[in-house]
Amino acid sequence: MKTRLSVIAAMAKNRVIGINNTLPWRLPEDLKHFKALTTGHHIVMGRKTFESLPGILPGRPHVVITRSPVFQAPGCIVVNSIDNALAACKGDPEAFIVGGAELYAQAMALADRLYLTEIQADYPGDARFPEFDRSLWHETSRDIHRAADGLEYHFVIYDRTPPASL
Ligand SMILES: NC(=O)c1ccc[n+]([C@@H]2O[C@H](COP(=O)([O-])OP(=O)(O)OC[C@H]3O[C@@H](n4cnc5c(N)ncnc54)[C@H](OP(=O)(O)O)[C@@H]3O)[C@@H](O)[C@H]2O)c1
Repeated sequence: MKTRLSVIAAMAKNRVIGINNTLPWRLPEDLKHFKALTTGHHIVMGRKTFESLPGILPGRPHVVITRSPVFQAPGCIVVNSIDNALAACKGDPEAFIVGGAELYAQAMALADRLYLTEIQADYPGDARFPEFDRSLWHETSRDIHRAADGLEYHFVIYDRTPPASL
């Protein structure tokens, strides 16, 4: 069975995804959305994103990528390359790249699907979602929401557009 490789991220209007190794916003609805989509599936993350988590997220095998030969993350699968991360997800119908910026930048070329929470405001930050070629992707769905404080955010799914020859 082929594993669908999905990237999942929440991004501000100015592409910011993080600041000081944490999220720039408090948006519980997005965390619920993340949990609903990823539970039961492998989540693949860079070492810095792993260190930003409060702990292991239940019900999801964690695959942590690092270049360090000595890094350990109890309860996680630790690998030294994206190829080895994908091999660790074998047999899962869908695996999720969950960040951060460095990992997204490498994974976009490999991904089949993109779950983007598009937050309709700018935030200061030091980590950004990579620019990507929109012509390679089509929008499959867009659900528009507004948080209690008025912040508008969209849950958007983009799928990779197959080559014209297919
Ligand atoms: N808004 C969102 O949806 C979202 C989601 C996730 C994270 N974030 C934010 O993103 C920020 C973190 O992103 P980041 O870019 O700084 O770090 P990151 O991508 O989480 O982790 C980078 C680290 O991953 C390892 N790595 C990356 N590519 C590798 C490769 N090809 N082979 C082996 N190891 C590799 C390296 O670890 P070593 O240094 O150990 O070698 C590298 O330093 C935080 O602010 C976090 O809150 C936001």
